[in-house]
Amino acid sequence: MILVTGATGNVGRNVVEQLLAAGQQVRALTRDPDRASLPPGAEVVRGDLSEPGTLPPALQGVTAAFLYAVPGTAPAFLKAAKDAGVRRVVLLSSIAVDDDAEVQPNPIAALHAVIEDTIEESGLERTFIRPGAFATNAYQWQGQVKTGDVVRLPFGQAATAPIHEADIAAVGVQALISDGHDGARYQLTGPRSLTLSDQVRIVGEAAGRPLRLEEVPPEVARQAMIQRVPEEIVDTLMDLQARSVGREALVTHTVEKVTGRPARTFAQWAADHADDFR
Ligand SMILES: NC(=O)c1ccc[n+]([C@@H]2O[C@H](COP(=O)([O-])OP(=O)(O)OC[C@H]3O[C@@H](n4cnc5c(N)ncnc54)[C@H](OP(=O)(O)O)[C@@H]3O)[C@@H](O)[C@H]2O)c1
Repeated sequence: MILVTGATGNVGRNVVEQLLAAGQQVRALTRDPDRASLPPGAEVVRGDLSEPGTLPPALQGVTAAFLYAVPGTAPAFLKAAKDAGVRRVVLLSSIAVDDDAEVQPNPIAALHAVIEDTIEESGLERTFIRPGAFATNAYQWQGQVKTGDVVRLPFGQAATAPIHEADIAAVGVQALISDGHDGARYQLTGPRSLTLSDQVRIVGEAAGRPLRLEEVPPEVARQAMIQRVPEEIVDTLMDLQARSVGREALVTHTVEKVTGRPARTFAQWAADHADDFR
């Protein structure tokens, strides 16, 4: 039995689907089973990583777990996992983690690095999946796309190599079900560096109408974002974007190396999700 936490999220949902397609027994953890709408083949359990008492039933009979990074929850999760006989943990981490830094460069990196360290200390078999920018970040424009032909953002010439959530999941699934990934730290990206302006245009092409990015001052975007995202995370994200203006984003080929299939393009992602932007 494989436990998937974060199972209702962009990546976790794909992990559940791909494990089922590979013939695995899957238990999906969510804080709200009534709203989860997970595939019927998965056993859905109520659990909260912040409530350790909910974990032992979720971990019973589990041999490998896909872990979503919730700050402060790793020690209790790993203790419960070891008690239950889990042998392997695959963490959804972040490319922001810097192995060479004495102090992690930003709060996003620090959050994931602490959890990676705790897993390492646990002695369990472990794989750290470290994706760069998700293609799903384009959902932040969904409201603007549905109501107009212009997406207002700062840093239109900032570049990322957006990765399809199905590719992140595919690497996670390999690490869960096959040998040879213990200790790996997989930096994952999409196949191509694209500016945010390019990405807006590509979403428009998939949705069937011309879309363009119009730059707004960073402070305007910052004020809008801090309504829904913690301020230090907003500042980290704005800083990363500002520094990626006019630079090619890092592209790795790890998805293909691990799964045997090239990473999906952003155009493929936009086509897969075109209805969400109509
Ligand atoms: N966006 C990016 O560009 C990017 C890049 C690199 C890394 N990342 C990392 O990837 C992760 C986001 O992945 P995602 O987009 O797949 O997630 P998501 O769609 O935001 O979903 C969040 C998931 O976490 C679960 N969750 C939250 N708190 C929980 C708790 N206390 N106990 C149990 N489950 C909990 C939710 O489950 P329920 O609500 O069903 O309980 C849900 O399934 C983050 O760690 C982020 O730092 C993101």
